[in-house]
Amino acid sequence: MKILRTKNAVKSFCLNLQLNKITIGFVPTMGALHQGHLDLIKKAKDNTGSVIVSIFVNPTQFNNIEDFEQYPKSLHNDLELLENIGVAAVFIPENQEIYPDKPILKIDFGLLEQRLEGAFRPGHFNGVGIVVSKLLNIVKPDKAFFGEKDLQQVAVIKRLVMDLSFDVEIVVVPTVRDKDGLALSSRNLRLNPVERNKALTLFRMLSYAKSELFNGGAWLDILFHVKHEFSQISDVRLEYFELVHAEDMSKQDSFNKDIPLSICVAAYVGKVRLIDNIPVNH
Ligand code: PAF
Repeated sequence: MKILRTKNAVKSFCLNLQLNKITIGFVPTMGALHQGHLDLIKKAKDNTGSVIVSIFVNPTQFNNIEDFEQYPKSLHNDLELLENIGVAAVFIPENQEIYPDKPILKIDFGLLEQRLEGAFRPGHFNGVGIVVSKLLNIVKPDKAFFGEKDLQQVAVIKRLVMDLSFDVEIVVVPTVRDKDGLALSSRNLRLNPVERNKALTLFRMLSYAKSELFNGGAWLDILFHVKHEFSQISDVRLEYFELVHAEDMSKQDSFNKDIPLSICVAAYVGKVRLIDNIPVNH
């Protein structure tokens, strides 16, 4: 596995693959790798000739400095995992390599970012849009792989790729969960055992809401119950719990079999902010 630290090193590595007609699969990450990332890599390996992973904790997508500073880092372990699973190269740039200067470009994703993460983390998707654009321009992959756990991020990136005509296919991989349902996330590393137990509320409520919707429950009643349940748990603060169109992220308030629906949640468990979502009918 090649360890690449500069844009030029990545570009010549990828050019060589392209000259040899080897398709490139790209998995961008912020490190602290877990089984969710490994599933993305596995999918990439199954679908392309050569896989490149990037590890870069992108400062411009954090609207909260503490969240950025506390973001888990485990480079040594990450490299071991990547070596074992067998990727062709890992790109680990320094901040200066990606941001020689603070970008002045602002990307406005319009309605796509007015709800959910976009509403609670102002500027987040601007930062995601900029770094993903940079990485796609550096790697020029045939396919790039993203997790469904970040549903709104997937919607934003698909739109970015369409609006800016990036020549890449976006592949979405389902969320990976622990046996008890907790969605895998690098941020889970920051939960103590008591908090981890409380964090199960997210998936429990998503599953409850999905099954109630299927059984004809009214969304407002479901929401009322969910908010009540969250309010009963100390140190857990619900930010949003919403039924949305899974592609355009518009707010929905009833079951409709003709449109792809997902339920999305964000909540603080102690100081750790977690998100999760569940597809309802797709
Ligand atoms: O999903 C992530 O880990 C990040 O948002 C991404 C896509 C690597 C951009 O920094």
